[in-house]
Amino acid sequence: MAVQFSEANRKKFEEVLTHYPTKRAAILPTFWLAQEQFGFLSNEAMEYVAQLLDLSPAYVRGVATFYTMFNKEPVGTHHVQVCTNLSCTLQGAETILGCVQTKLGIGVGETTADKKFTLNEVECLGSCGTAPMAQINDDYYENLTPEGVIQLIDRLAKTA
Ligand code: FES
Repeated sequence: MAVQFSEANRKKFEEVLTHYPTKRAAILPTFWLAQEQFGFLSNEAMEYVAQLLDLSPAYVRGVATFYTMFNKEPVGTHHVQVCTNLSCTLQGAETILGCVQTKLGIGVGETTADKKFTLNEVECLGSCGTAPMAQINDDYYENLTPEGVIQLIDRLAKTA
């Protein structure tokens, strides 16, 4: 098998297993470890997780595709996920999304040519009280404004 956990992640995986009654129950934290190490859940990575947890590849794929936080394709350095669910839409999410698209010159589901940014639309991220919002990598950016999101992209572009 081409992909496998580093020694450090193998240890983390073994530790994760001790927190769950069955291997199957540990699938989400195992996905996080895999995504952290491999960048996204490729077919090979999902097969590896299936093997580790004694599950069928079809079951693992089914779980992985259910959750938007697990990337099934490579993403850029900054993964911009704009929430376009109800509360965010009522507070201007479509405008925010449009600003990001124009600024980056890409559409939803696309990655910039320099691989610095990937843009996606996501369902509610549980931060409706601070809508409109977006998640970029592990961080939430809330109460976004068109000017603010453009400044944010500019700032991130310098750090990539
Ligand atoms: S609708 Fe956007 S965070 Fe809930």
